[in-house]
Amino acid sequence: MKAIEIRNKYLNFFKEHGHSVIPSAPLIPENDPSVLFTTAGMQPLVPYLLGQNHPKGTRLTNYQKCVRTNDIEEVGDNRHLTYFEMLGNWSLGDYFKEESIAMSFEFLTKELGIPAEKLSVTCFAGDEDCPRDNVSAESWKKAGISEDHIYFYGKGDNWWIAGEEGPCGPDTEMFYDTGKPACSENCQPSCDCGKYVEIWNNVFMEYFKNKNGYSKLKQKNVDTGLGLERMAMLLQKKETPFDTELFLPIMKKLEELQKIDSIESRRIVAEHLRSSMMIISDGGRPSNLDRGYVLRRLIRRMIRHLNKLQINLDDLSTLINLNVETLKEMYSEIEENKQIIKTVILEEKNKFIKTLANGEKEFQKEINKLTQTKKISGQVVFKLYDTYGFPPEVTKELAQENGYDIDLKEFEELFKQHQEKSRQGSEQKFKGGLAEQTEETIAYHTATHLLNAALKKVIGKDAHQRGSNITVDRMRFDFNCDHKLTEEEKKEVEDLVNKWIKEAIPVTKQEMKKEDAINSGAECMFVEKYPDIVTVYSIGDISKELCGGPHVSNTKQLGKFKIKKEEASSSGVRRIKAILIK
Ligand code: ALA
Repeated sequence: MKAIEIRNKYLNFFKEHGHSVIPSAPLIPENDPSVLFTTAGMQPLVPYLLGQNHPKGTRLTNYQKCVRTNDIEEVGDNRHLTYFEMLGNWSLGDYFKEESIAMSFEFLTKELGIPAEKLSVTCFAGDEDCPRDNVSAESWKKAGISEDHIYFYGKGDNWWIAGEEGPCGPDTEMFYDTGKPACSENCQPSCDCGKYVEIWNNVFMEYFKNKNGYSKLKQKNVDTGLGLERMAMLLQKKETPFDTELFLPIMKKLEELQKIDSIESRRIVAEHLRSSMMIISDGGRPSNLDRGYVLRRLIRRMIRHLNKLQINLDDLSTLINLNVETLKEMYSEIEENKQIIKTVILEEKNKFIKTLANGEKEFQKEINKLTQTKKISGQVVFKLYDTYGFPPEVTKELAQENGYDIDLKEFEELFKQHQEKSRQGSEQKFKGGLAEQTEETIAYHTATHLLNAALKKVIGKDAHQRGSNITVDRMRFDFNCDHKLTEEEKKEVEDLVNKWIKEAIPVTKQEMKKEDAINSGAECMFVEKYPDIVTVYSIGDISKELCGGPHVSNTKQLGKFKIKKEEASSSGVRRIKAILIK
């Protein structure tokens, strides 16, 4: 069964069981600077898991695009992926354990045709925070799982939470028995010898965890997640996801093009290319910070492995085209964004190859200096990062190929210090701009919020702010956009801002908990974490942003808004310079 058929069967099944199908949220979380990427289908649903009413009701289902990057370095083995698709269904205070388990069992056995005896399940064994989950175990028996296929484990295996804080609870996990021989007498689903493969996780979210411990949620929810690539692999009786139709075309092409054979390198190229394309399509751009840096690492690691396979980098374009063909059936946006995906990847490639040769020379020079040790210091790793753009895992791989190791810990400390310095630097710059706090700069600041809102209306909601700079004479604003603005678009933006100015809308300021601000949909400008209590500035219902201010009290104080220039800032980012005429 192809992945897309599994997805369609899943969504239809849950639709038939009263669920509304909701769209996948973008990979780049909206208004949530605290996480890099969407890592699970529940993430965009947190406000509803906490009790807010969802417009589509209490039973939801979707496919969710996810990126998890903790294991980037593991990619290349037979199972790790940074991008994957999660099929999910949710009960928001609707059904609970028994019904959820009955539906999972029915879907697996009837819709996907997996024999019940191939399934094993695990339940929460209980501890001081939450009792043993006998209800789930009983529900499995009732559904048709035999008692000797039911296992109980503690929090390490059967408890789910995204990160450190948030809605959470015991879970029950389903495993598929591949039929491989047991590795020992004690071989169980928790064993990672490869006999049992986890296929689905149903979380029973009754609790909220914060620094002070656990409390009960207002409602009992169900949050489930089924990994699509893995399911496709199992149903197709393949050994790895790279042997399914999702990766086969590119894996074959790489084999054709390579001059040196390496299955790991082919997997790394195939996986990182797919992941980068999905991230770019949802608005991600390479940079040296946070999300952008993850994307940069993915692209640069992919290029290193193309080099290892001795594949000409001019073939990258062909590989991207090929992947568009593979992915477009499942993700139409990939075809729509084909041009920008190509531009971003090829530009990043050009940047990287410029420094690659020099960096490798520098690396050789450094290891030649090492006579006493086989460990490359964090200082050298940092220099290669800072001067040559080598992500640490690239240096690590280079080191390993030459029989060396790297001091990653020291690198990470240096990296943190460096980030802290540049953060302080940008805050300083920002403060510098506002320190004058003249009538003009304050007005420009409010105009910046209006421009941000207008661009979202005219260009699209993905026109996120990428930077801003204000002087007493003008404002400058950078935002995501894949094309030069047309004269009509510029005029529309200008007219909209001027209309709002004319409407004399009051600007209001509110202090609130960060969580509430983000949940209420306020925009935020910096990716750094905000303090627990934040200031939110609203301009009627036109704009709402987390912001330190200051602002004018009414838009009528702004005068006339005029765009002076619109130009490219960097790839996928445009820049507007504008003035206010009093
Ligand atoms: N949120 C759960 C998971 O990611 C379903 O496994």
